[in-house]
Amino acid sequence: MKKYIIGNWKMNLNVHESSLFVAKLAQSLPIKRNVETVICPSFLSLQPVSLQINHRQMKLGAQNCYWRDEGAFTGEVSAAQLRGLTQYVLVGHSDRRYIFSEDDRDIRFKVQAALRNCIRPVLCVGETEMERGDGDTEHVLCDQVASGLMNVSSEQLDQVLIAYEPVWAIGSTAPATNDDIAAAVKIIRTQVEHMFGKAAAAEVPVLYGGSSNLENGKDILASTGVDGLLLGRSSLIAPEFVGLVNAAAEIGKETK
Ligand code: PGA
Repeated sequence: MKKYIIGNWKMNLNVHESSLFVAKLAQSLPIKRNVETVICPSFLSLQPVSLQINHRQMKLGAQNCYWRDEGAFTGEVSAAQLRGLTQYVLVGHSDRRYIFSEDDRDIRFKVQAALRNCIRPVLCVGETEMERGDGDTEHVLCDQVASGLMNVSSEQLDQVLIAYEPVWAIGSTAPATNDDIAAAVKIIRTQVEHMFGKAAAAEVPVLYGGSSNLENGKDILASTGVDGLLLGRSSLIAPEFVGLVNAAAEIGKETK
């Protein structure tokens, strides 16, 4: 199965710095048929970067979008405006859910807006530390998946990716354990199976995100049943990012 390595640059790098970093990545990023490499710069950098990159080497993702196509929504960028520019968009990242108070309804509408505009949504789900402590992980994941994919058709599901991102592991010092990740992936696939059937559940790409890097990422890719990684900090360190794309290609070969 194809592996996905997605770099979320968050609110880092201005337009000039983005261009320099992309040039650096381009020097060593391999083109592998079994790996989809995606970078998600800020909105401002998307257009210049899209003119700079070799689209076989890396694809572009936005970090967010608004769900209405156009109108009086000051400061927002719609999926319709991203159409043709990015191939992916992150939806419901925990920064969006918890810092910008996005709720399940916003996230559901954004998934639909992305699909309507031919952009693949990466639906991010994950429990907070408190939810985990309360033993609510399964409940939270099922709810977030069910709500995010409500009104998505079986045909549209082909375009959807899900990222398991435990909120407590994001920006921290260690990722979730491989056992925790494997268990969460199973919960997510079971929920998808309830909604779309067994085949769809086996096919939907499920990624992991939260403090993964070159050191722990290979193991996560190899032993947890995930189809890829959503990287924050390590996506801004060229050798780490490139190393993980290479690792994913190797592991992808073994798990064909
Ligand atoms: P991190 O961020 O890799 O820096 O923990 C992950 C994310 O926010 O997706």
